[in-house]
Amino acid sequence: MQSDILSGKKIIVGVSGGIAAYKSCILVRELAKRGASVKVVMTPSACQFVAPLTFSSLSGNDVIVNVFPADQKDGASVRTWHIDMALWADLMIIAPATVNTVAKIANGFADNALTTLVLALRCPMIAAPAADVDMYENKFTRGNLNKLENSGVYIVEAEAGDLASGLKGKGRLADIFKIIDAAEIVLHGDKKDFAGRKILVTAGPTYEDIDPVRFIGNRSSGKMGFALAKAAFLRGAEVTLISGPTSETIYPEINIVKVRSAVEMKKAVDKQIKSNDVLIMSAAVADYKPLQKGARKIKKVDGLKKIDLAENEDILGTLKSTGKFIVGFALETDNELKNAAAKLKKKNLDMVVMNSLREKGSGFEFDTNKISILHKNGHKKVLPLLSKFRAANIILTEIANSLTKAST
Ligand code: CTP
Repeated sequence: MQSDILSGKKIIVGVSGGIAAYKSCILVRELAKRGASVKVVMTPSACQFVAPLTFSSLSGNDVIVNVFPADQKDGASVRTWHIDMALWADLMIIAPATVNTVAKIANGFADNALTTLVLALRCPMIAAPAADVDMYENKFTRGNLNKLENSGVYIVEAEAGDLASGLKGKGRLADIFKIIDAAEIVLHGDKKDFAGRKILVTAGPTYEDIDPVRFIGNRSSGKMGFALAKAAFLRGAEVTLISGPTSETIYPEINIVKVRSAVEMKKAVDKQIKSNDVLIMSAAVADYKPLQKGARKIKKVDGLKKIDLAENEDILGTLKSTGKFIVGFALETDNELKNAAAKLKKKNLDMVVMNSLREKGSGFEFDTNKISILHKNGHKKVLPLLSKFRAANIILTEIANSLTKAST
């Protein structure tokens, strides 16, 4: 999913000395691909893992390693590069942030180029820590990371999995694309405002089987629902995603329930809704299913000419009494706002997101979407064509505002 907000942004990538430093090469490349200007600062230990030349080639800029650069040698020039660079940046991302670098930053040390720069920053900062499991879970490390988080640093926690040591556990640098999503959230000014909230998201199509080979489906890719789940997670929510068949991937921390048919999706929603505060029903649920499913492949000689259909139950339509904050989607081609408003009322929703299939670049399969948001109280927000991730964040902000209003 390409970002539309990183373009033109000035980003410092700080690389400290861990094996995950090699993954930061991809981070720099991906940020540059999205139109950001990237400058890299490395600790001396990071240079043991990756050569500065690699980062210089990928960013197209000089890489800072020494507090006293070569041209400053013997007092040949007077430069306050750390101040210039700090003022230049819109965002600094430290990835990987080793436990040593995290400890230094938490305590205000300025003993290398990276930590010196951090002290001079005025822009927001993201730290993506990585270490072996015991070092990562160590109480001093946790204390230092909490200190950073409490000072406004956005932490992208490491993931669990196979580690370079051969051990298994939490400590692997977060997926690069998760760090990029976090950069977009931070640059847009979104906060971890869903901390303590539980969000249920549905995504993708449902497949209604005709026989073991064929099905009735729709063109939903699941991209919008997956973007909502990712954005909600990065904003601090505990997220459960119920997804129909799709090729989209999700962060490992998000609990995913895979379903196929509308009946399975309804069962999963009914089970999960009790333990969640919000439901965002972005799935394109099939309205009809074949009345009968053939146990074996229907052969041409059997002469299948028509398929009798039965209506699927409307999942949203049965959730009125749950007392949860319920968001529906309305996919429309004509009389869009009018139809969306009618669905809001009929399905007794708190909010409906109208998706127009008329707009170029909007709807199924695209990475962009043109949406309008309608609230129960009549308030309406019409948005331009945006990346699905950005659209997801705006939907979440509308939900967060409604929840805050409801609790005051
Ligand atoms: N939906 C649902 N259960 C269904 C069908 C749809 O919960 N059996 C939900 C969708 O997930 C979406 C909302 O209802 O959030 C609107 O879906 P949409 O297909 O736009 O509307 P329908 O109610 O199916 O009406 P129509 O197809 O006639 O436009």
